Amino acid sequence: MGEKIAGLDVIGDEYYADPHAYHARLREQEPVKQIVLPRGTKAWMVTRYEEGRQVLADPRFAKNFERFPDLMERNHVGDAERNEFDQSLVQHMLNMDPPDHTRLRKLVTKAFTARRVEQLRPRVQEITDELLDRVADGGEVDLIEALAFPLPITVICEMLDVPLDERDDFRKWSNTLVVGGANVERIQEAGMSMAAYLSRLVEHKRANPGDDFFSALVHTSEDGDALNHTELISMAFLLLVAGHETTVNLIASGVYSLLRHPDQLEKLRADRSLLPGAVEEFLRYEGPINQATFRFTTEDVPLGDVVIPKDSLVLVSLLSGNRDEDKFPDADRFDITRPAGGHLAFGHGIHYCLGAPLARLEGEIAVGTLLDRFDVELAAEPETLRWRESTLVHGLHSLPISLKPRGTAAS
Ligand code: HEM
Repeated sequence: MGEKIAGLDVIGDEYYADPHAYHARLREQEPVKQIVLPRGTKAWMVTRYEEGRQVLADPRFAKNFERFPDLMERNHVGDAERNEFDQSLVQHMLNMDPPDHTRLRKLVTKAFTARRVEQLRPRVQEITDELLDRVADGGEVDLIEALAFPLPITVICEMLDVPLDERDDFRKWSNTLVVGGANVERIQEAGMSMAAYLSRLVEHKRANPGDDFFSALVHTSEDGDALNHTELISMAFLLLVAGHETTVNLIASGVYSLLRHPDQLEKLRADRSLLPGAVEEFLRYEGPINQATFRFTTEDVPLGDVVIPKDSLVLVSLLSGNRDEDKFPDADRFDITRPAGGHLAFGHGIHYCLGAPLARLEGEIAVGTLLDRFDVELAAEPETLRWRESTLVHGLHSLPISLKPRGTAAS
């Protein structure tokens, strides 16, 4: 890593281009290490599987959003201007500790159980079919534009029953907010526009309730005061951004991994019962989230060979934990038949991904249907593909592929 501030590595372009190489070095030499993020925030990066899991399950690594402005100030180094997060977007469960976290998560858990999500299967299949119909003649397409992006966002908008008529703007704001290196003014502007838009969405729901679970949440807040207006905005933000920034990478990185490993693609074509296991391997090998969201220490906490001081920010690298040889033998090998269970791609502990069953369903249907309908090849040199410049999300900017219809379309 080239640039340093206060003797610490600064995360930048070199890291984004190949985070795996940096992680491998850290796992070996300094598995709990202080680094500096692009806008000058100092944090401890945890790169081994066991220690990562330990952090995610330990309440001394806390999340309470009210502490963050102060913690960001304390942990700031260098001259870069600090990010200020729009306060109306942060009051969601992923930024809370129990009992607030428990209360908010409980309100939406039911809508995301494996059983409820399974009921969405026909609709997810239908949306996938419609999207692939648009490219039915084959030729060169960007898989992200054609399928990986529109599928999950359509599904979550239908679940929340929101129109998302400002879809392009939403995508732009969401991208600006998750890509940490953007200019501060742009981040603040995106935050304000997003908050104003979501506020209008909540008002719209209040006036036009449906039988979706988001309407139920809006009305609970009126009757039982369970969620205030800001919490509703933050909840919509969390669910819509999760719907925008994660599953897209599962589908695109999964297909990319298959295309880079033709033997694995052949195996999957020959035996479609391997698909669920293949999706787990997509998640392990090139997971959609790189570093989990910030935790902070509520006291001095020993971890590995170091003691992380109280009030430090901590990042667990899920991407790195999933390449840890001590957990996954021959971890850099992409193998759709390996037992990939126990990977960290969905996190661990009380914040374990609420959307995991939905993401798995979408991943299976998208990749399965794509392979049923087309012969697929990479339409760009791998070295020309760029990964997004973010420590949070891990995914390609675009994935050019060429499609050749396989004759009869399976459903
Ligand atoms: C492949 C796709 C996905 C991946 C890899 C993923 C990953 C994650 C991870 C790693 C966390 C924990 C973050 C942390 O502890 O810092 C998380 C939390 C969460 N995810 Fe996902 N996610 C995916 C899709 C979704 C979808 C589709 C939804 C719902 C629309 C969703 C909703 C949530 C929510 C609400 C939380 C917060 C849970 C809590 O704080 O208790 N995720 N996700």
